[in-house]
Amino acid sequence: MSVFEDKDSTAKERKADHIKLAFESQLNEQALDQRFYYEPALTGIPDSNTDLSKYFLNHRFEIPMWISSMTGGTERAKKINENLARACHDYGMGMGLGSCRSLLTSNEFFEDFNVRKWMPGRPLYANLGIAQLAQLIDGNKLHLAEKLVEDLEANGLIIHINPLQEYLQPEGDMYTAKPVEMLEQLLDKTRLSVIVKEVGQGFGPESIRQLMQLPIAALDFGASGGTNFALLELLRAEASKKEQLLPLAQLGHSAGEMISFVNELPHPMACSQIIISGGIQNFLDGFYLMNKSKVPAIYAQASGFLKHALEGYDQLCIYIENQIAGLRAAQAFLKIKD
Ligand SMILES: Cc1cc2nc3c(=O)[nH]c(=O)nc-3n(C[C@H](O)[C@H](O)[C@H](O)COP(=O)(O)O)c2cc1C
Repeated sequence: MSVFEDKDSTAKERKADHIKLAFESQLNEQALDQRFYYEPALTGIPDSNTDLSKYFLNHRFEIPMWISSMTGGTERAKKINENLARACHDYGMGMGLGSCRSLLTSNEFFEDFNVRKWMPGRPLYANLGIAQLAQLIDGNKLHLAEKLVEDLEANGLIIHINPLQEYLQPEGDMYTAKPVEMLEQLLDKTRLSVIVKEVGQGFGPESIRQLMQLPIAALDFGASGGTNFALLELLRAEASKKEQLLPLAQLGHSAGEMISFVNELPHPMACSQIIISGGIQNFLDGFYLMNKSKVPAIYAQASGFLKHALEGYDQLCIYIENQIAGLRAAQAFLKIKD
């Protein structure tokens, strides 16, 4: 008699699969992810008790993920935002709303953004562009930014700085003051918790230094490498503009490069938290860059979440659960190479 009970009822089927799939599962050396050491001798198998939580933006995040600002004011936006907000609640994340600019002048699209009911107690930030901030400052109307945050029951306000996009967008907005100076005014004149982000080109070292000297709640990279709004605007433009101004879409900084810029600063800075975003393809990118960062960090995706939020809530959950499974494996098995 055996010393233990063998409950391996699928063994026969599994062994047959192994033989069938062995030749399909060849991977060459170029496909190896060179960022990590894999250390299987030092850990057991991670389970659902693996702690992935982080304290960030005065909240406990169950997983270190943020949903980057996206949509509003289109037909599908309400359902997308509802799906994203429900996921924040169910998985203990936070999110930024897409630009709430339209709400400064009309309540027509308010319900698209009105997601607090789906994510009670989770970090939620409203969103305006730097061009709208310029207008609010010029018109002495910063109280409207406070009202926006209050109406949406948000925890604060994200300001996106996107000059290259505005420059390439036929209907783009103008502003002449320096964004850091406008942000100083916002921080001086309101009590809003403020996050500052780019939209897919990232920030250079001097911008990062000056932004992190401000008492903002977090810097959100919006780095280059994923959704690229300069390119997106060129794709909307006429053929000659698209072709001839294309080099502008190739400007910017990757999230990895931006981590190096942040790490070189003399910490602590007034801003002590970062959201690593822009071109984050998966949990391994997030895990790697969070570990590289010298300041507390979570990571974020926009298009990655959007793709699955469009397919419905169940697909979004499957996606997030696979990200969690990947993060657990990364935490258990991997060490970062220097
Ligand atoms: C459909 C879509 C709409 C977006 N709208 C906004 C916006 O209104 N405000 C903003 O700050 N960023 C906006 N973004 C930029 C994202 O927040 C993010 O910075 C950028 O997409 C890079 O992240 P990714 O590479 O994970 O997509 C949008 C992105 C997408 C894909």
